[in-house]
Formats: sequence, structure tokens, C-alpha cells
Amino acid sequence: MNSILVVDDELAMGIALKEALCRKGYSVEVTDNGEDAIRRFEAGRYSMVISDMKMPGADGLEVLREIKRSSPFTPVLLITAFGTVEKAVEAIKEGAVDFLLKPFSLESLEATVERALQHEHSFDVDGKVMLTKSPVMSRIVSMAMTVAGSDATVLLSGESGTGKELMARFIHSQSPRREGPFVAVNCASIPEGLLESELFGHEKGAFTGALNQRQGKFEQANSGTILLDEISEMDLKLQAKLLRVIQEREVERLGGKVPIPLDIRIIATTNRDIQEEVRKGRFREDLFYRLNIFPLCLPPLRERAEDLEYLAGHFMKKFSSKYSKHVEGISEGALAYIRDYGWPGNIRELENTMERAVLLCQGVEIDVEHLRLTKPEEQNEPQAASSEGTPLNPMTISEMEKRLIYKTLDDVGWNRTRAAKILGISVRTLRNKLKEYG
Ligand SMILES: Nc1ncnc2c1ncn2[C@@H]1O[C@H](COP(=O)(O)OP(=O)(O)OP(=O)(O)O)[C@@H](O)[C@H]1O
Ligand SMILES: [Mg+2]
Repeated sequence: MNSILVVDDELAMGIALKEALCRKGYSVEVTDNGEDAIRRFEAGRYSMVISDMKMPGADGLEVLREIKRSSPFTPVLLITAFGTVEKAVEAIKEGAVDFLLKPFSLESLEATVERALQHEHSFDVDGKVMLTKSPVMSRIVSMAMTVAGSDATVLLSGESGTGKELMARFIHSQSPRREGPFVAVNCASIPEGLLESELFGHEKGAFTGALNQRQGKFEQANSGTILLDEISEMDLKLQAKLLRVIQEREVERLGGKVPIPLDIRIIATTNRDIQEEVRKGRFREDLFYRLNIFPLCLPPLRERAEDLEYLAGHFMKKFSSKYSKHVEGISEGALAYIRDYGWPGNIRELENTMERAVLLCQGVEIDVEHLRLTKPEEQNEPQAASSEGTPLNPMTISEMEKRLIYKTLDDVGWNRTRAAKILGISVRTLRNKLKEYG
């Protein structure tokens, strides 16, 4: 739900705005002075601010400036009386989304607020686009831009497919290190035994098979950014070594004797609740605190209602042009489906679904049949193996397991992390199983 902060020194006006906007389903907080508004904004999460222009103390323009400084994408709407129109025009130049001239009708208030909240943002992240219309995401993007300017460690959390890696690349591209390397290491997909030398490198002869000296990912990332993807999958022994690297800002190759100084920015991602992992003793608490300097949590797609159709349309256009098709739209029925479906695999699942839909679509419009989603009401059914394993048609346990794994992977668009979560096994186990099946 969108929450709006209203600032007006005239109490009656504040109350009237609150009533009108609450009726429209927004959650609204009211304050009667600019200083308090700025304080509250820093502490809370608001999708939008509506401020009166002329107030004693910090006026509308000051409120606007403060908010734009900490959160450039939060829409700020100003209310102005006839006498201050010129100032309001100036405010638009400084980034206010719009202004309302007193007296205004409730309809025009509602329409302006709705329009303001629909502002779209699009960023180029080396060749890929990161899009959002959702106020919650816009706020997160603002915070990411703010932190990008520093070297602070960022911990990105969020369900799989919510765009953590894209966000990590975005932060790098917005940072002073943008000309330096961006090195991503997936801690879940590299076998346990190899991860250590992958991260830290090794000297010739450090272990059997270490035929040559090799630079680790940390060294490769020097002067740039290292992304430690799915860090919660790292085993405890390696976590201890990682902690030392982060604390000392230097790395020693396996079998090496000289520490190599590091000048890097660290971004880590996790799709598990890492604090829960700490409680269960599976993740070192000290390492968690080292990583959790600037946490950013990406909301699941189902909580970004504003983004659903927008992203679906974006992917449709992208794949239509990629495959030289002439798909130009999405039918009402298909849109309703997209809105109702829960998107457990988030943006990645939406992207894969739209790619398949574009390929399946023969005409100009994507329809329900091209989406091939499980109906929303089927989503919560237990993911049991199908009835094929009846006594008449017996299957071995391992055959059943294999089918279940494949079915689950299909359901989540082959997102292994997500499938592993549903199946209740680790990504590593899943990977080994798949290797077994060839
Ligand atoms: N805001 C966005 N706009 C456009 N595309 C996006 C957006 N967010 C994510 N994507 C796309 O969705 C896909 C999944 O994103 P990404 O790989 O960053 O997710 P993730 O959170 O790292 O997933 P996982 O936890 O499974 O590794 C990518 O193809 C990415 O480009
Ligand atoms: Mg990822």
C-alpha cells in the first residue's frame, strides 16, 4: 500500500487531505510543520509527500529540497495558493512532480496523486534495463544511488528473481568504481572444494592439481566491485576466511606467503533470511554484521503491483524485437492472468514467461494460452508427484524423485534456487541430482 506524508500548517487542510486519500486506499500521516516532515521522512517509508508551500519554519521548497536530496525519486507534490504560484514553478524546476492550486477539488487531488505515483524510472545497466514504476522500488533505487557513491558494503536480500544481481550491477555502474571491474562469484553454484581457490586464488603446487599460479576473484576485482552472490550458501569454514579478508582488506592466495592488498567494494546477496541462518548457527554472526552495513531488501514482484504490467509489456517488446516477431500487445484476459498469478519466481519468471509467450504467439497479441501459467488456485496445492506412480504403473523412488524435481523446475522456470526451496533441499543437492541425471 502506498503511504503518503502530508505537511500543512493548517490543521483542517491536513485532515481533509487525509480523509480524502484514506478513502482512496492510501495510508496517510499528517504533520503540521516542515522540520517534523523531514524528520519523519528520514525515519519512515513513504511513497510520496504532499506539502503546503507556505509554512512557518521550513517551507514547502525546503521540504522538497531535503527529500530530493535523500530520495530523488520520491514524488513531492506541492499545494500552493494563488500568491505563491511563481515559487511553485520554481519548485517544479527543482524536481517537484506537480502542484495543486488552492482551492482544488477532491477529484483533481486524487487524479494528481495517482499520476504522481505512476512515475516511471528506467536505468541502463550495461546493456540491460532496470525499470520500475513502483514507489517502493523507486525508494530503494534512490537509496542504492546514495550508497553507490561510497565504498560501503551492501547486502542485497530478496526472493530469487527479484533483481538482486541487476541491482548489484546498477550500484557498481553508479559508483566511482564504474571504470573498474565487476566480478561476480556465485557461492551456491561453485562446488564447495573449489570455492576457496576461486575466491582467494592459489600458488603453483598449493594442492594437487594446482599446476599454475592463479589469481582469485578478489584479486581480479581489485579497484572495482566484487559480488558475492548467494553468500548464505557458503560453508562456515570459508566464512571465517572471508571475514578475515573483509576485515584486513587483503587476501592471501592458497599456498601463498605474501598478503595482497585489496581496494574493493563488496556487495553480497542472499535469498534466504540470513538472520535466521545466524540464529540457526549456519551463518557467522560477526560476518553478518560486517556485511549488513547497508542492507537493501528487494520486494517480491507480487508486492510491486505497479510494475507487473509495465514489466510484462517491456519484456514483450524486448522479445518481439529479438525474435523479429510482430507481437504488439497483451489481451485483457492475459493481463488479468498476469495480475492474478503469484509470480513465485518473480521477475525472472515473468521474463521467461513473456519470452515463451512471444515465441508461441502467432498473431499480434499475447493471449492466456501463450502464458502457460498454473492457475492461481492450483499454486498452493502440494507439489506431489503426479498420479503416474500408481501401483498399476509403478515407479522407483528415484524415478519419482527425478520427475518431481523436473516438474518443480518446470514450474519455476528452471530457477534452481527457487526449486530447491520448494523441494526443501539445498541448491547444492539439487545440482548434484541434476548432474546425476545428466
Ligand atoms: N527492475 C527490473 N527491470 C527489468 N528487468 C529486471 C528488473 N529486475 C530484474 N530484472 C531481470 O530479471 C532477471 C532476474 O534478475 P536477477 O538475476 O538480478 O535476479 P536475482 O535476484 O539475482 O535472482 P536469483 O536470486 O535467482 O539469483 C534478469 O534477467 C534481470 O535482468
Ligand atoms: Mg542472482
